[in-house]
Amino acid sequence: MSVSLFLLAALLLLVLYVRKSSKPPLPPGPRKLPLIGNWLDVPATFQWKTYARWSKKYNSDIIHLNLLGKSIVVLNSFAATDELLEKRSSIYSDREDFPMVNGLMGWDFNAASMRYGDEWRIHRRLFNQEFNVRASRKYESRELLGTRKLLQRLISHPDMFLTHFRQMMSEVILSSTYGIEALPSDDPYVELADEAMRGLAAGNVPGVWLVDIFPILKYLPSWFPGAGFKRKALEWRGWARGMMDVPFAETKRQMELGTAPPSYTVDYLRALEDSNHAFYEEYHVKATSGIMFAAGTDTIVSSLGTFVLAMLANPEAQKKAQEELDSVLSMQALPTFEDRESLPYVSALVKEVLRWENVTPFAVSHRVTVEDEYRGYRVPAGSVVIGNTWALLHDEKVYPDPHSFKPERWLLNGRLNPAVRDPEAAFGFGRRQCPGKHMATSSIWIVVASMLATFDISKAVDAEGRVVEPTYEYIPGLVTTPVPFQCAIKPRGPQAAALIQASL
Ligand code: HEM
Repeated sequence: MSVSLFLLAALLLLVLYVRKSSKPPLPPGPRKLPLIGNWLDVPATFQWKTYARWSKKYNSDIIHLNLLGKSIVVLNSFAATDELLEKRSSIYSDREDFPMVNGLMGWDFNAASMRYGDEWRIHRRLFNQEFNVRASRKYESRELLGTRKLLQRLISHPDMFLTHFRQMMSEVILSSTYGIEALPSDDPYVELADEAMRGLAAGNVPGVWLVDIFPILKYLPSWFPGAGFKRKALEWRGWARGMMDVPFAETKRQMELGTAPPSYTVDYLRALEDSNHAFYEEYHVKATSGIMFAAGTDTIVSSLGTFVLAMLANPEAQKKAQEELDSVLSMQALPTFEDRESLPYVSALVKEVLRWENVTPFAVSHRVTVEDEYRGYRVPAGSVVIGNTWALLHDEKVYPDPHSFKPERWLLNGRLNPAVRDPEAAFGFGRRQCPGKHMATSSIWIVVASMLATFDISKAVDAEGRVVEPTYEYIPGLVTTPVPFQCAIKPRGPQAAALIQASL
């Protein structure tokens, strides 16, 4: 009897072994330790650069890591992201659960962190309807007005350029979303959004909150020893809800009074009143409005900071763009969106800004819902799948000399060269790709064109007459931003200053 039991157990083990070894191997990656996996290998910051290095070391555009039991797959080439995140988008478009942020901190209204499913589809449909390439053109007049105000502020306080970028984008987004005109400083709605974003930044640090690793901890009562995270989350939840609820309530109040100017919120609430068959409810308008400030402000401000840094790194590019602008506008007018076709060098410069130091080096991680296979490697179901946009946009085979800022790479015979791969990976991938990409690109374009038409951007000089060299350093994060730096922004002459003064 005991012999037959032994034989049966041996047979079972053999079957399990054969089944396991008949599965394709996991993609290569650093050696994993028991239980913690690669936890000690992964640096706390700038992981995208490490992953790009590992991809070269293991000679594979797909690498695998295990972080405390979680399977992580990193894609480091366009071939891999095109195949998995684009072509197989139907299984690669989920997100992780994020118990701390989505659950306890109440960010479950955020389409960007929502699981792939019916609720996300409704939010996404609203975004796509509002921000597709044609529809997003309606925001151009607000972007233009915001840029003109920015130019005026740059004349008075050029050293505060980063603050002005933020003020401009806050104004554009608040007015477009709610019809609310932001105050020039200390605006209460902007402060609410800033507060919410501070909470999000603190709560959204991978690996910091045990509840993200052991979701069961969310059931601990707040008073329980060690449940400080629940008390923190409750405070941050109030901030997130404030950002969503307060401006929305104000717009509804104005609608009741009949004084609400047109905006995203007003348009979609009115359409709801007029229809019995809308695919969305009032809550969806509130939630999508609530996320626009969070999604659109810091990302665009970071790109504009990179633009200024790029001008310090490459004064030649600035000069060429200014020559192009002068040849089209003859210093008689400020640029408008109608000039876009005539300004290919400026458009190339904007593409290079998006590529050179991309704002979201990891995009936002996706999650694969079923087991899959790529290049003979197994991608386990439920893996976090990271499209390493930084690696893609710095791939020397696609963008030679990738760390230099070179707008020329996008041009051929003075026109944009369609053969060079667009930097739209900066906006992520597949079905989850950023719906605000057209609005973002046009906002950046009009600021870049207008600033270069009217200002010279150069390195700052200190009291002793020494040039202040920028460090070109970035603060890492989901949204990376340049470390605040100094520079000199001066009108290109009295004519430029007069054009700005006359423009409003
Ligand atoms: C330079 C500016 C911007 C950059 C670099 C950027 C980048 C991104 C990235 C990388 C993603 C994740 C894509 C993925 O999962 O693969 C994303 C998602 C998203 N972005 Fe943007 N974004 C920008 C501006 C905006 C603006 C202006 C808006 C709206 C007005 C916006 C709204 C969203 C939303 C709603 C999502 C979630 C999409 C989803 O999960 O389905 N973004 N963005």
